Amino acid sequence: MLGRLNHVAIAVPDLGAASAVYRTTLGAKVTDPQALPEHGVTVVFIDVGNTKIELLEPLGENSSIAGFLQKNPAGGMHHVCYEVADIIAARDQLKASGMRILGEGEPKTGAHGKPVLFLHPKDFQGTLVELEQI
Ligand code: CO
Repeated sequence: MLGRLNHVAIAVPDLGAASAVYRTTLGAKVTDPQALPEHGVTVVFIDVGNTKIELLEPLGENSSIAGFLQKNPAGGMHHVCYEVADIIAARDQLKASGMRILGEGEPKTGAHGKPVLFLHPKDFQGTLVELEQI
């Protein structure tokens, strides 16, 4: 079921400042900010060759990462995203194994225009896991 690591996501309080660190200090190429209202975040991606880093900033009143930033005001690692070939098959297999899918359990469209799901951190060693169908 498990494919490649697509990205590691870091929640940040200030996307402009965080992007500047990657662009200027680390010399990385940072994409333009992309607002994802359905997920309550604005994101940029940084391609580091073997995977990507996703920087997430809260968007809107009920951002899914607002609580995380309250606990981690300087920012922090928020989730890892693994690629899967068939997200519905992966979801059904995980559910059958007793794993919890966040939200309604139906895939939403992610930052790359592909279906994504999030898995409960308590079922995955305290780490929020995103699955993206490739
Ligand atoms: Co992500």
